[in-house]
Amino acid sequence: MESLKEKVTIISGGGLARAIAVVFAKYGAKLVLADNDMARAQTVVEDCKKAGLTSDDVFAVEVNNTKKDDIQNMFDKCIARFGRLDILVNNAGVGRLAPLPAKPPDVYDALLNANVKTQLSIAQLSVPYLKVTKGNIVNLATIVAEDPSSVCGVYGMTKAAVEMFTKTLALEMAEFGIRVNEVRPGVVHTSFYDGFGGGFSKNLQLLREAESAKHPMGRIANPEEVANAIAFLASDMASFITGNAIYVDGGRHCVGPGFAKRQKPQN
Ligand SMILES: NC(=O)c1ccc[n+]([C@@H]2O[C@H](COP(=O)([O-])OP(=O)(O)OC[C@H]3O[C@@H](n4cnc5c(N)ncnc54)[C@H](O)[C@@H]3O)[C@@H](O)[C@H]2O)c1
Repeated sequence: MESLKEKVTIISGGGLARAIAVVFAKYGAKLVLADNDMARAQTVVEDCKKAGLTSDDVFAVEVNNTKKDDIQNMFDKCIARFGRLDILVNNAGVGRLAPLPAKPPDVYDALLNANVKTQLSIAQLSVPYLKVTKGNIVNLATIVAEDPSSVCGVYGMTKAAVEMFTKTLALEMAEFGIRVNEVRPGVVHTSFYDGFGGGFSKNLQLLREAESAKHPMGRIANPEEVANAIAFLASDMASFITGNAIYVDGGRHCVGPGFAKRQKPQN
């Protein structure tokens, strides 16, 4: 992971992004923190400084990912400050709970826009810079893209699209030395759940109890555990890995239909 030192990295988002930024900061990467919530992004800048970066090594930029001009401005500021781009962590995403039949079209559009269209736009605009450095992209998908979960249908659909986008872009970019991978977390407690409803944002214990049982290791993930997998994929340790995914889900993707039964005490 030492290869992350001095690597110019854009990280989008603000929840999980905090842990990702701090892990990259500990390895000495130079960071652009892109969020639509500047107050929060500034607190992440401060956390990165506590982890060892100086003011010259890290800055925040306000980006609404749905606006192409904002995205281009983010790349322009990155190049103006650091002169290059090595790594894009395509992390910002949105989730909402609702059963498929009840999902209003505007929610469908919002999730598709936030999780697919914007991730794709950011990746597309990053390519010219990553060609120069033979850099790489790490996208954020999720276990519910392949493990259907009631009320997470539309969110899962958008992340299934991210999985295909990861593999296709990896194929297309391989000849340029650009790697494209993804991380598939199980549940990790972040502000993500504020938008989900169901009382999760107010009650961490509720989230832990409801979701821990679904993960064979018996708990949800810590943000740092997801960040570590991202750091590995972005580093030279993963130099021949592309179009691939790492699950950070305590084994949840291995769960078959008998898992719930096996959790009950056997007589
Ligand atoms: N938290 C989990 O359990 C979990 C599980 C699997 C996958 N993921 C994925 O991980 C990624 C990060 O999730 P998180 O937990 O940090 O979520 P989060 O809600 O805590 O953070 C998402 C960030 O994205 C930003 N954002 C949203 N829309 C934006 C826009 N239009 N422009 C710019 N920024 C915007 C928000 O301001 C926020 O800071 C997402 O892609 C999510 O789908 C999360």
